[in-house]
Amino acid sequence: MHKVLVTGGAGFIGSNFVRHLLEVHSEVRVVNLDALTYAGSLENLRDLPHSERYTFVQGDICDRAHNEKLLDEHEIDTIVHFAAESHVDRSIDGPGAFMETNIRGTFELLEAARSRWLQEAGAARGKRFHHVSTDEVYGSLEPAEPAFHEERAYSPNSPYSASKAASDHIVRAYGHTYGLPFTMSNCSNNYGPYQFPEKLVPLTIVNALAGRRLPVYGDGQQVRDWLYVVDHCQAIIDIIESGKNGETYNVGGNNQPTNLEIIKSICAILDEIRPQEGRREELIEFVKDRPGHDRRYAMNIDKIAADLDWQPSYSLERGLRATVQWYLQSESWLAAVSKRSDYQTWITRNYKNR
Ligand code: NAD
Ligand code: TYD
Repeated sequence: MHKVLVTGGAGFIGSNFVRHLLEVHSEVRVVNLDALTYAGSLENLRDLPHSERYTFVQGDICDRAHNEKLLDEHEIDTIVHFAAESHVDRSIDGPGAFMETNIRGTFELLEAARSRWLQEAGAARGKRFHHVSTDEVYGSLEPAEPAFHEERAYSPNSPYSASKAASDHIVRAYGHTYGLPFTMSNCSNNYGPYQFPEKLVPLTIVNALAGRRLPVYGDGQQVRDWLYVVDHCQAIIDIIESGKNGETYNVGGNNQPTNLEIIKSICAILDEIRPQEGRREELIEFVKDRPGHDRRYAMNIDKIAADLDWQPSYSLERGLRATVQWYLQSESWLAAVSKRSDYQTWITRNYKNR
């Protein structure tokens, strides 16, 4: 891994990845290709370490010619593909963008890699396409079912997870059919710095600080497996460096609280760090459930632990504390992202009068 094209590097996980990679790798050069949709922001990339090894390019992964140009110009040997529409609720509201970016965008990126890396014999040596995917492709677990392992059949339930599942299959097909060197990671719910405040953890922090209601979908007993984002970034680096060509690795945090539990934990941390009259968990409000809401995800991470010696380094408690602290110290970031009209529209539409 020397010259890395990161797609979606202005989003939540991508920006953490760019930061982490520049920090831990003294040789790597990073080109960040991002369309800067509502979810991407240059605010996430302020004060990058070793920024002399970093280049930002605004563009759409659906533009194959542009993808090819970047691979040529920067002599890219590694693609780390994060760019996606990533929010389940938005995929229920409007699935079209998910099909376009997650499926067609991945296809156009793969076509660029095929045309640039696979035309001459031996040209694929030292190349790697790493595809970042999700546990949601596996569907929903019953309460007593064992955690997802890599061999589990895909059974995606939302337009988001179906579009990610499609992209996973296409990546695998390019490996199988054309010999494209690839690896894939299917990761559980991430949380941490720079997450746009529409997903559960940052939304709860931001709403609780503003004294707004904390909406809990359905009975709040849904279970997710939470991973601190920097642990995910390190897992991806480990997979690219030491993972086997053509392999998929499940990545998760080894914890499975209910949504209600995680919301209450965030409230308790905020009450402790920034005390006020009344407990913040009193802001909890049960609201209508998400259509088709997956009940439970849990990841079996034995393979990545055994093969690559990767383990999550943050406990949920430590990660949540670090995250809450980061949001408390990042008022200017929050002001910048929440000023945007698309954020205001989303909040007004979903949380007005709560
Ligand atoms: P995000 O929504 O925060 O960021 C997505 C980024 O992609 C944004 O910067 C956006 O501008 C960019 N983008 C969107 N469409 C684009 C296009 N057509 N061309 C170029 N750039 C485009 O997402 P995230 O939460 O950081 O997730 C990143 C990846 O990780 C996604 O592939 C997602 O499926 C996967 N993932 C996320 C989680 C999670 O908990 N957030 C868990 C597992 C896997
Ligand atoms: P989310 O952060 O949107 O991630 P995902 O849907 O990809 O798991 O949601 C996490 C869980 O929290 C999910 O079960 C839906 C639930 N949820 C709420 O109860 N209230 C909310 O306001 C949001 C955004 C999510």
